[in-house]
Amino acid sequence: MTRQSSLDPIFQPLTVNGLTFKNRIIRSSIGGRIDYYDGSMSGARIAWDTRFARGGVSAIISSNAGIRPDGIAVPGYASIDDDHKVPSWRTLVREIHKHDCRYIIQLHFSGRQRDLARKEYFGMPGMSSTDKPDLVHGLRARRMNPSEIDEVVQAYGRAARRARDAGADGVEIVACNGYLLHQFLSSAINDRTDEYGGGLKARARMLLEVIAAVRAEVGRDYFVSVKLSARDEHNAWTAPFSRTAGNTIDDSVEVSRWLAEAGLDAIHLSQGDTFPHPRIPAGALPADDARHTYNLMYYEGTRVPTTFFLLQFKPFRRLFAWNWGRRMPFRRHGRLVPALIEGMNQADAARIKAASGLTVICVGGWQHAEPIRAALTACHCDIVSIARGLLANPDLVNQFAAGQAGPQKPCTYCNKCAFNALAHPLACYDESRFESREEMFEEAYRVYQEAAAGAH
Ligand SMILES: Cc1cc2nc3c(=O)[nH]c(=O)nc-3n(C[C@H](O)[C@H](O)[C@H](O)COP(=O)(O)O)c2cc1C
Ligand code: SF4
Repeated sequence: MTRQSSLDPIFQPLTVNGLTFKNRIIRSSIGGRIDYYDGSMSGARIAWDTRFARGGVSAIISSNAGIRPDGIAVPGYASIDDDHKVPSWRTLVREIHKHDCRYIIQLHFSGRQRDLARKEYFGMPGMSSTDKPDLVHGLRARRMNPSEIDEVVQAYGRAARRARDAGADGVEIVACNGYLLHQFLSSAINDRTDEYGGGLKARARMLLEVIAAVRAEVGRDYFVSVKLSARDEHNAWTAPFSRTAGNTIDDSVEVSRWLAEAGLDAIHLSQGDTFPHPRIPAGALPADDARHTYNLMYYEGTRVPTTFFLLQFKPFRRLFAWNWGRRMPFRRHGRLVPALIEGMNQADAARIKAASGLTVICVGGWQHAEPIRAALTACHCDIVSIARGLLANPDLVNQFAAGQAGPQKPCTYCNKCAFNALAHPLACYDESRFESREEMFEEAYRVYQEAAAGAH
């Protein structure tokens, strides 16, 4: 084992619009209901994020932070929808900075993809580019009018200003995975005929307006990125007979050029038109876990009761798992091949990087040093971001720095963390990675004990 070399591409610093990343690995957003119902931050959030800062990443992207209460996807995540929330974000950022780690706040508005509406919005359709419900859960939607669009655009600006006031090092605007700005961007979702619908430029209009509003509030000298789905041609994965194709990589390449012209600093590359999606987080559909957690969404979408009912029967669980996997290119002979998942978005990242000239952050399955080094050396991306690989091994970057090629107990891409997040603590739930079931739960609850002890 050799220790970190000064030539290792993983450990080359990078400065983007005044923000210096000490190495090329950052933590991607990992949402979990560890804050208070109204979006106030808990000590557990601080303990949770500090865990990754200690583990060596150069920056952390927060879990999705709602910019307005009606756009919160799931209550219980720290939000940034009110000036009163700024002091707690400031406390969190200060803790993270103690570990020479940067902090980026993710600005989020769910639109129709509101998995669990807050009580005051229960039964109300989520605002969207369309009146159509989503294909997966049947979450109800209401088409926004231009003045509602403008109000949300301005709310993004105010949220970005709060992030800067809190001392955060940058913001990331969510325009991927089926959330509001993606509902406008996607040709599969946006069916408008006004100036926000039709051609690609019109569908990108709201996102470009958001960037302008954010820049107007934070200035030009502040790191601003967009999380973008490179393609959503694989939409309709739970609706096998749907013919609606979504945006292609060529569309996203075009959008990335407009984003560069609009003064963006970086693109964080994702995939897919929903969350979760067979390609994000790529891996298995843990149908047994879904069976036990999906009931929480029972009243949210018109399709949920039927799906929930079917999930109670093993043959249907198998059918759902088959449907989830059938469009996924990460299988051989019916089995997941982890090596195919690791770095799965890098070809798209390379295209976006070449076309836009922007800094590109590539997410998707990373957890071994060699594939990361290879992607950085080939200039496919500038930074890699990791969610599950770090959830499983928060000290992964320190392990790389110590010369390890990869973790002893890697993430298995089972996706049990994602499918339990609505109902249970945010944690790794793959028992095979632990000595015992007791050890797994001890680890899952540790963050609360750390928070109580003020151990962060
Ligand atoms: C439990 C869980 C929660 C997540 N929450 C968010 C989120 O709040 N915002 C976001 O943009 N992505 C979220 N993601 C997606 C990740 O940031 C990442 O894009 C995805 O998991 C693929 O990266 P990975 O293969 O390294 O896990 C979440 C993923 C998981 C597993
Ligand atoms: S539950 Fe654990 S092993 Fe499974 S995907 Fe999540 S982090 Fe990886």
